[in-house]
Amino acid sequence: MTERRPGALIAASILDSDLAALGDEVRRAEAAGADRIHLDVMDGHFVPNLTFGWKTIEALRRVTPLPFDAHLMIAEPGRWTEQFLDAGCDSITFHVEVAEPQIGPALARIREAGRAAGLSVKPRTPLSSLDPYRGLLDIVLVMTVEPGFGGQAFMADVADAKLLPARAWLAPDGANEVQVDGGGRSATAEVIGRGGTDVIVVGSALYRADDMAAEVERVRGVASAARAATLR
Ligand code: DX5
Ligand code: ZN
Repeated sequence: MTERRPGALIAASILDSDLAALGDEVRRAEAAGADRIHLDVMDGHFVPNLTFGWKTIEALRRVTPLPFDAHLMIAEPGRWTEQFLDAGCDSITFHVEVAEPQIGPALARIREAGRAAGLSVKPRTPLSSLDPYRGLLDIVLVMTVEPGFGGQAFMADVADAKLLPARAWLAPDGANEVQVDGGGRSATAEVIGRGGTDVIVVGSALYRADDMAAEVERVRGVASAARAATLR
């Protein structure tokens, strides 16, 4: 799934985009050089917000060839896996904090369908919660804000505590991805890159930028340089 660039990849989160013009906003992110589209699905139960579902993703699938990273902040990801696979998601990441029995089977189903399977940890959830799923994951998504909303402050303490350990926890050959989600912007790109992060989710910083392409380039450039120094 990884369109491996030498440096960090930028996944544009459309959560804070103009939802009345979602197709155009996805095209804008593609034109600005984003590597992926990050799709924040929220059910109003797992997080105190409600966004969009698989039908919206299915419609957006016709808009761009960019890989779709679905980030499911929903209570029952196992129940809806098929719908998100059918909608065209290239990766599906849900939260390790959901009810246990569904996690293993959902990860296996995503991989069986030839897509990338991921688990996300909230800021205060220890990485050790992922241990039962080692070897079942292609993506570890480290939340550096409490899930539910864009535009929040980056939690640098979480990045310091989790990014390099997450990198070490995944396959040593780096065949898997560490993604960071929450507060990604040019001002936090160095810390995120220093953590060896592969994919940086950037939402409000892109959609509030005067020049989206310049912000994509800034975040990618700063993070990639820091990442290269760390992974050398
Ligand atoms: C928050 C979402 C993030 C969010 C990132 O729950 O998972 O993807 O959209 O937005 P920014 O980049 O504004 O923090
Ligand atoms: Zn997200």
